[in-house]
Amino acid sequence: MDAPDDGGRLAVAPSDGPAPASAAHVPVLRQRVLELLGPALRDRPAVAVDATVGLGGHAEALLAAHPRLTLIGLDRDPVALAHSAERLREHAARVRLVHAVYDRMPEVLADLGFDEVDAVLFDLGVSSMQLDVPGRGFSYSRDAPLDMRMDQGAGRTAAEIVNGYSVPELARVLREFGEERFAPRIARAIDRARRTEPLVSTGQLAQLVREAIPAATRRTGGNPAKRTFQALRVEVNGELTALRAALPAAVDALAPRGRIAVLSYQSLEDRVVKQALAADAVDRTPPELPVPLPGHAPRLRLLARGESAPAAEVADNPRAASARLRAAERIGAFESIGAAERIDALGDGRERDRRGVDSSGAEEPSDRASAAGGAR
Ligand SMILES: C[S@@+](CC[C@H](N)C(=O)[O-])C[C@H]1O[C@@H](n2cnc3c(N)ncnc32)[C@H](O)[C@@H]1O
Repeated sequence: MDAPDDGGRLAVAPSDGPAPASAAHVPVLRQRVLELLGPALRDRPAVAVDATVGLGGHAEALLAAHPRLTLIGLDRDPVALAHSAERLREHAARVRLVHAVYDRMPEVLADLGFDEVDAVLFDLGVSSMQLDVPGRGFSYSRDAPLDMRMDQGAGRTAAEIVNGYSVPELARVLREFGEERFAPRIARAIDRARRTEPLVSTGQLAQLVREAIPAATRRTGGNPAKRTFQALRVEVNGELTALRAALPAAVDALAPRGRIAVLSYQSLEDRVVKQALAADAVDRTPPELPVPLPGHAPRLRLLARGESAPAAEVADNPRAASARLRAAERIGAFESIGAAERIDALGDGRERDRRGVDSSGAEEPSDRASAAGGAR
């Protein structure tokens, strides 16, 4: 496995023993991700990007399922890369790990000499390791320094934002990224507290939020600090900005019949994913024309439109409860889905496209083509 430094953007694998955080970790919707990406990867020397390799769970499953696969794993967290390097050690010859924010995927692929890839996976948000390790500051349920950076070597901490933003800026962050209806109240409470002394810990912030919201709402809807912590994490890491840039770049990188799958865990992210994939799945040909115009035809065929984890998985892993899975296939350069078959790309749930195919199932027409040895 390559051992990149930060300039070369690669992670150094630890030398002793498997990483405990990754040993117990089961990735969300592993089987469904394999089904959705499989037709683009099987029986050939394929290349996949895991844009959020994290603890290496999905990457390990993909590498085990596809013995000729080369996997490029990105993560902005060097600690996560160290865990995945350890977990993927057995497949090291087929793995490149790169320390990068995923919106740098085009440069990373160019540096590694890949023009196009067969699959891209995003499993968004934070890993169980980041949530559970004391000191990262992502969790409102344990006291830690207010950090929340996925890469602790770069960028502003949550403490810098909480103590440095104006009240209107704080309220905007809480409203936009946390959908917090008490955003102005919480922002004012933060301001009152920091006039005495800077807020430095997650415990202080969680307590302050609890006290800032009306007493009647403290008893409903889970921990009242949840939305504030989500909002700060999104702001600290520029998560939505990176995602908006990365999704179209990932689609650009896909070979014809290549596939993309995205797992998100909160509605803001899922909305960005849904819109990005839908934008590439609609035909922009004026409706009065019978066939798609060149450059107006859709680039993607939607395969999964916001699928959830099965109840049994959620029972084993409560963090899977909020997962939504979206996936799509890049339409081949000389392939057209035709005016009569245009996909209702903005539809949601397990819908049928105009060919009457269950768009959430793995047995899409192209799956069947691949299984039957269809050319890609
Ligand atoms: C949910 S975990 C991925 C878990 C992984 N699929 C597995 O099976 O172990 C998300 C990972 O994405 C990384 N991440 C989040 N946003 C990122 C970004 N913009 N660029 C690169 N990595 C990011 C986080 O550091 C974290 O390690």
